[in-house]
Amino acid sequence: MQNNVRPADMKRIETAELAEAFIAEKIAELRAQIGDGKVLLALSGGVDSSVVAALLIKAVGKQLTCVHVNHGLLRKGEPEQVIEVFRNQMDANLVYVDAVDRFLDKLAGVDEPEKKRKIIGAEFIRVFEEEARKLDGIKFLAQGTIYPDILESGPVKAHHNVGGLPEDLDFELVEPLKFLFKDEVRVVGRALGLPDGMVNRQPFPGPGLGVRCVGAITRDRLEAVRESDAILREEFANAGLAGKVWQYFTIVPDFKSTGVKDGRRSYDWPVVIRAVNTRDAMSATIERIPYDLLEKITARITSEVKGVNRVLYDLSPKPCATIEWE
Ligand code: XMP
Repeated sequence: MQNNVRPADMKRIETAELAEAFIAEKIAELRAQIGDGKVLLALSGGVDSSVVAALLIKAVGKQLTCVHVNHGLLRKGEPEQVIEVFRNQMDANLVYVDAVDRFLDKLAGVDEPEKKRKIIGAEFIRVFEEEARKLDGIKFLAQGTIYPDILESGPVKAHHNVGGLPEDLDFELVEPLKFLFKDEVRVVGRALGLPDGMVNRQPFPGPGLGVRCVGAITRDRLEAVRESDAILREEFANAGLAGKVWQYFTIVPDFKSTGVKDGRRSYDWPVVIRAVNTRDAMSATIERIPYDLLEKITARITSEVKGVNRVLYDLSPKPCATIEWE
């Protein structure tokens, strides 16, 4: 039975010095647990799995294999950044799986949000399992479980974005971050030398852009979500809002309206901007984005994103709206 209670005397990791001490202690523990065994990790590129990967690379190097599944619902530049940071800079064993067609084919025509989520979750496990079976002699499964995952899930010990694996894949779990809160994970990530853009990331749901391409996902509308999200993130960063606003993203609903483009009538999608602040995601208030910034973002999205002729700002707090649209 694993101990899942944060030690009462554990200091909050708020400084680089405390992070260095934590890293040194974890490296020793990981080496003792893993010995010369092999470890597998699903590396999404989110904060938690990235910090686990960086820690394990330091502790056991090539005994770790990271599997990065590109399900086609990631933000612009994410798969490239995972490859650049972990394969090129940290010299990790990284298996990159291009599963874009597989996921989008399975999702074609599915418009019910919970069904979309189930398909994405189940397919993710299937792809990861297939990759695990290709590798010989894996004994350990590393997970980016953090303390809120344990507090929220009671006896079920799973990272919030990763579901279960089949029983016959019988791995011993490696969860070096399980007593850390998110802000502590970020401090440790910084001390491990991960790029700021990776460490300071806003929360990103497991089903990714799939829940922001409202209704049945099509490739062209998904591209409109991805491109508009990239513009929004860039403009928020330029305006000094990145890291200050809790979560901000774009949504593309499944309807069109009339517009005018290049002197002709257009019939295109709207892009909705959402930017919220919250403590625990149970309730949220909207960010008061300055109007000139909203206008700049609107001008860029309507001129640079294919198939879009309007930009709207969602002013709804949670409740009565949720943060995501699906
Ligand atoms: P809602 O939309 O419920 O979102 O107000 C609250 C927070 O949860 C995130 N979210 C998800 N995260 N899988 C996840 O890992 C999901 O299916 C999912 N749905 C919502 C959302 O981004 C927000 O931060």
